Amino acid sequence: MRYVRLDTPKPISKIGLGTWQFGSKEWGYGPEYERRAAEIVRRALDLGVTLFDTAELYGFGRSERILGAALGDDRAKVVVASKIFPLLPVAPVVQQRAVASAARLGVDGIDLYQVHQANPVVADTTTMRGMRSLQDVGLVGEVGVSNYGLRRWRFAEAALGRRVLSNQVRYSMIDRGPEEDLIPYAEQAGRIVIAYSPLAQGFLSGRYDATNPPAGAVRRANPYFLPENLERGAELIATLREVADAHDATPSQIALAYVLRHPNVVAIPGASGVEQMERNAAAAEIDLTDDEYAALVAAARAFRPVTGLAAVPRMVRARLGK
Ligand SMILES: NC(=O)c1ccc[n+]([C@@H]2O[C@H](COP(=O)([O-])OP(=O)(O)OC[C@H]3O[C@@H](n4cnc5c(N)ncnc54)[C@H](OP(=O)(O)O)[C@@H]3O)[C@@H](O)[C@H]2O)c1
Repeated sequence: MRYVRLDTPKPISKIGLGTWQFGSKEWGYGPEYERRAAEIVRRALDLGVTLFDTAELYGFGRSERILGAALGDDRAKVVVASKIFPLLPVAPVVQQRAVASAARLGVDGIDLYQVHQANPVVADTTTMRGMRSLQDVGLVGEVGVSNYGLRRWRFAEAALGRRVLSNQVRYSMIDRGPEEDLIPYAEQAGRIVIAYSPLAQGFLSGRYDATNPPAGAVRRANPYFLPENLERGAELIATLREVADAHDATPSQIALAYVLRHPNVVAIPGASGVEQMERNAAAAEIDLTDDEYAALVAAARAFRPVTGLAAVPRMVRARLGK
């Protein structure tokens, strides 16, 4: 495993584990998955993974409970990251919610406590007052944000008066927005971009095609899995396979290596089984050549999925099986 080269109280592994899947029926993994989730966590620990990401929202607290129980006594050795869903993120609410998350996780302190998304009405001055007091009493280690633009990330730092260590955003080969400003900022300022959906929810695994879309409500709502987009992605998947063959790896591993190429980026793929966790951890060791990277960038740029409003009627038709 590789770790981010930054001064943090505990090392942060380049591959972490995302746990939205834990306790969330919307992924369609069924009741058996709860046992598998614990096995995934234990295997991740064996493989040197130190970053475990959850949120109070995932399974309405079930993800935090499953993760905390699976980590057991190892909780203190790793970076446990959770998120507050900022419905009314005024200071006393932030404090109460952190206490509740810590209790579900079974920890004395949350190593990284993130604001799940920017609140359009409540300013970060208010939210960060709560975060600062949590840090002062030791219930929270580092503060992070999620789905923030650069301006608001920096504003949040000014409001906290301390570093806001990380910004967790959607980042993969086919969602490259963070390359414009967030990643350069992280590199210059010693911060971290945490890439969520780094496999585009499995789209980049090459496992799915128009005749074989994934199950579950989460991915039914993701336009990348429209039959038309799965077809349009064939060239990109072919390029991933080609690069993967040269490394004796899989397309998913190459997709992860693509985002991990930036020193201040870590990725937190979710996993439906232990074997995926193993492969994802191994991806941290893959070094892409400049030529391979250029080929991946070109293939990703050539992929033009139908998204936004144009995707809506198609998603309705797909839902109705038409
Ligand atoms: N902050 C936010 O707003 C936000 C939003 C979304 C996610 N997140 C976080 O980011 C984490 C990851 O994002 P995500 O779950 O949306 O997407 P993801 O990590 O891109 O995709 C995860 C899915 O990809 C498939 N997969 C994983 N490893 C694989 C491998 N080695 N080979 C083949 N397929 C593999 C699995 O599904 P199948 O096996 O079923 O295909 C798995 O459930 C979440 O768990 C959550 O912690 C945060």
